[in-house]
Amino acid sequence: MPDLLPLLSGAIPWQAVRGDALAVLSLLPPDSIDAFVSDPPYGIGMELGTAKRRTRIRGDGKAEARRLWERFVPLAARAARPDSAHWFFGTWKSPWMAEILAASFTLKGCAVWVKPQWGLGFYLRPRWELAYLAHKGRPPLPAKADCDVWEAARDNLTLHPCRKPVPLLRRAIRMALPVERRDPARPPLIVDPFAGVFSTGVAAVEEGCRFLGVELDARFCRTGEARLRAARGDQTT
Ligand SMILES: C[S@@+](CC[C@H](N)C(=O)[O-])C[C@H]1O[C@@H](n2cnc3c(N)ncnc32)[C@H](O)[C@@H]1O
Repeated sequence: MPDLLPLLSGAIPWQAVRGDALAVLSLLPPDSIDAFVSDPPYGIGMELGTAKRRTRIRGDGKAEARRLWERFVPLAARAARPDSAHWFFGTWKSPWMAEILAASFTLKGCAVWVKPQWGLGFYLRPRWELAYLAHKGRPPLPAKADCDVWEAARDNLTLHPCRKPVPLLRRAIRMALPVERRDPARPPLIVDPFAGVFSTGVAAVEEGCRFLGVELDARFCRTGEARLRAARGDQTT
């Protein structure tokens, strides 16, 4: 089991854990995490690779993703700081996501990520994804409310087929943790329990926040760690 104390105490700025989100979430002390900004499996059977060699994104089968959400959401809510805001990406194809989130958090809205690139589809070719804004308690009102349609170009998907753009994640972080409310002596701690190649981590570093990322797949985790080191300008990869 990873030792999370150095990160939780602020002694180190980030930590990457190759392992199971549920195991790591259950180690987090209650009321300790400033913001979850996460993109968990959607339950749509996402695959990667070529037609000859396909591998599935872990946990992305319909039933297994739902079971995963049912288990991780209450753990995240328990670990979240009182009066805090969180973002969870999702899809209309799995309508149970909103129900599961609403059982542990208060859902305050849903932002739509619009991309210039068209996805694949027989009837409609999607150009958007969604992210739920979930509150624990009552975080202070923002100085100015943001619009709920966010435009950002999709990144190259060779590193990870579900990779989210860093500018989009920075916008989510700034909304959850407005810069003017942060304590410069204690940078906020952001957690992504389904980190993929750590795009949330790169956004957290660029926002001057601490970060904990958990990823089951060793290859993604290695790539993610390298991206984090590069984002911090750390040469010791
Ligand atoms: C939608 S992707 C996240 C992509 C990420 N936003 C990025 O930009 O790279 C979800 C990730 O969760 C990982 N995953 C699935 N089940 C997991 C579990 N139980 N614990 C940790 N990671 C898990 C998958 O391997 C996958 O990389």
